[in-house]
Amino acid sequence: MAKDTVTIIDNSTGKELELPLRRGTIGPAAVDITSLYREFGYLTYDPGFMSTASCRSSITYVDGNEGVLLYRGYPIEQLAEHSHYIEVVYLLLYGELPNQQQLADFSDSIKAHTMINESLKSFYHGFHHDAHPMASLMGVVGSLSSFYPDAADIYDSQQREIAAHRIVAKIPTIAAASYKYSIGEPFVYPKNSLAYCANLLNMMLSVPSEDYEINPVAAKALDLIFMLHLDHEQNVSTSTVRLSGSTGTNPFACMATGISALWGPAHGGANEAVLTMLEEIGDVKNISKYIEKAKDKNDPFRLMGFGHRVYKNYDPRAKIIRKMCYEVLDKLGDSSDPMFELALKLEEVALNDDYFVSRKLYPNVDFYSGIIYRVLGIPTNMFTVMFAVARAPGWVAQWLEMITEPDQRIGRPRQVYEGAKPRDYLPLSKR
Ligand code: CMC
Repeated sequence: MAKDTVTIIDNSTGKELELPLRRGTIGPAAVDITSLYREFGYLTYDPGFMSTASCRSSITYVDGNEGVLLYRGYPIEQLAEHSHYIEVVYLLLYGELPNQQQLADFSDSIKAHTMINESLKSFYHGFHHDAHPMASLMGVVGSLSSFYPDAADIYDSQQREIAAHRIVAKIPTIAAASYKYSIGEPFVYPKNSLAYCANLLNMMLSVPSEDYEINPVAAKALDLIFMLHLDHEQNVSTSTVRLSGSTGTNPFACMATGISALWGPAHGGANEAVLTMLEEIGDVKNISKYIEKAKDKNDPFRLMGFGHRVYKNYDPRAKIIRKMCYEVLDKLGDSSDPMFELALKLEEVALNDDYFVSRKLYPNVDFYSGIIYRVLGIPTNMFTVMFAVARAPGWVAQWLEMITEPDQRIGRPRQVYEGAKPRDYLPLSKR
């Protein structure tokens, strides 16, 4: 029987090294190179981690060629149709779908932690009045580290669980406060009679002086978008959370690093960038000009919401969101919304252009989410914040998995050094 190994040969010495393959339940196997440096004195070089599996994980599976996304084995399409956000958060954190009692207990625990310490609110006043809400979200989430010394032992499973529930419960409250501060309105307290996403909408969009009724279509749409954003295996923000967590730092600090990594336009910031781009394109008649700009290697412009490191097929999340766009616009907005028409046309042109076809560039999850957020009344600078709130339980699940991994070690990549060779210091007078 063929061995489950890969043999590499050093052509300069003729030395051979047999490396084991690590096979998961599905997906490509990984060559285990942990002995490479010890045996050969070589490192591996893989900028952007194109061929590197950084960990083993049982949470999320992505097949980029087939356009498949599974959470704990369940296809995203089935969860989107039959489940809801808090149930899927439970699934990610605990590994299995909850029974009725488990779901009720989990939901109650999350509700018990929705408020934030009153003194934490004063942190906001240190931010400039027009600070981007991602900036305050990042700072305030990190500052949670200073509030919970009672659950600071990350090697105690109960304390980890409390920290996990606190993060899931408090991040919408903090996100809404970031927005309220940025527009100079009073913070709205969480209302625990509301479901998770309805509560977030209420904290963001209501004001104490007026009655505010949550539109159930809006709450349902947000719940679905959040479910689609929950986790996405070892993407940049998740890898950042794992890397900082590998040092043993507290989970709130880890979340802050995830938020900062998410903010960039190549990652979670793309949803805001898509809307900005659509506004800039402005009209269907300008599409060809922007498609040419996106193809021009001398122009930094990229078609935002297009392309993905792993998906070389239609992003399954984008398929679901695209369909939802029709429903939400139909019920809450204008189904002939010019922004949606522009997005559909842009997608059609790109999907028929050889540049995008040959590079397998398809719309990703961020291409359509902004259009829905806009109809829900969520301002553009909050789009990436919404992504961060939705993704936070995914980060927590990955952090929990990493902490309990038996062969978990501090993450410490190496480098190929290309700087000056050793040289002697010259006194200032001789330079
Ligand atoms: N517009 C124009 N050209 C593109 C685009 C785009 N959006 N995306 C990739 N390309 C080209 C790229 O120039 C390269 O061409 P060539 O082979 O001629 O040099 C080729 O396609 C491969 O791209 P890459 O940059 O090597 O691919 P990557 O895996 O390193 O980057 C990406 C993936 C998502 C950063 C990139 O596609 C991109 O910048 N997209 C726009 C931003 C975006 O929508 N990000 C959200 C990603 S999904 C949600 C999330 O992760 O948060």
